[in-house]
Amino acid sequence: IDENVPPEILESRTLDAVAKYIKDGHISDIVVFVGAGISTSAGIPDFRTPGKGLYDTLRVKGLPRNEAIFDLAFFKENPDPFYSLAKTLYPGSRRPTITHSFLHLLHLKGCLLKVFSQNIDSLEQEAGLPREKMIYAHGNFLTQRCIECFTEYPDDEMREKVEKEEVPRCNSCNAFVKPDIVFFGEKLPMEFLDNMYLGHRAQLAIVMGTSLQVQPFASLPQELPEGMPRLLINMFQVGDLGTRADDVLLLGTCDDGVRQLASSLGWLEELEELWAKT
Ligand code: APR
Repeated sequence: IDENVPPEILESRTLDAVAKYIKDGHISDIVVFVGAGISTSAGIPDFRTPGKGLYDTLRVKGLPRNEAIFDLAFFKENPDPFYSLAKTLYPGSRRPTITHSFLHLLHLKGCLLKVFSQNIDSLEQEAGLPREKMIYAHGNFLTQRCIECFTEYPDDEMREKVEKEEVPRCNSCNAFVKPDIVFFGEKLPMEFLDNMYLGHRAQLAIVMGTSLQVQPFASLPQELPEGMPRLLINMFQVGDLGTRADDVLLLGTCDDGVRQLASSLGWLEELEELWAKT
């Protein structure tokens, strides 16, 4: 056990210890890793919750298996299933959750290093986080381009096509247009690959709303240096969280968890006000 972790974290391993660690100014940089579980209360289903996740519930005709909806080879043959789902995920159609507002509050408090998000709904930015505080590991819907000639496609035309569940075609070569979200079979954004270990500079890691099933994102929390407390806020234990003496597990919904942490920090009223403005 690394001696530079304050004893109160090791002894009590509770949320209050983490909050004290933040309040005492030990922490200027928090790195956060999030997944679909932070957006489910915004009405966006996650992927793997049995019976509710997209991979269980998608009933789109023409899909050989539900994961194919994000498969590049399948999209090139048949983009219709993706565009029948895109409307649900497209920015502007959902209100951020209080968990997204908590990320914004961490930034306003000056202790957010970076949010690594697997989500493509950009609700973190809609909650107020500046773009430079985000690393989108799996891309997002904020931009789109042709899958053949890579010409960018206009945002307003894209929004219209998504609304009507129509497949946008490139204005230059007429091939299909795809949002800049990472499909299975595509390379990951350079912004993510170049910054994967940025979190090693943090003094605290928070992991929220992810099953940690998809590599290389899934390995990031376990590769954080020993001695950095890691707080998991998730319905269930995931990854190697909980195996280190200074890990703290807060099992339950993200929205309840961030309210509890905010309350321990004395920030709950401020958080509720911030969220009320989204
Ligand atoms: N509060 C807390 N945890 C929740 C909540 C909630 N309200 N809702 C869901 N969860 C948990 C689930 O129990 C699960 O552990 O969040 C996790 C969501 O896991 P997944 O559905 O696998 O989503 P995610 O981890 O983001 O998936 C990663 O898979 O298909 C790819 O690219 C896709 O980015 C996605 C990646």
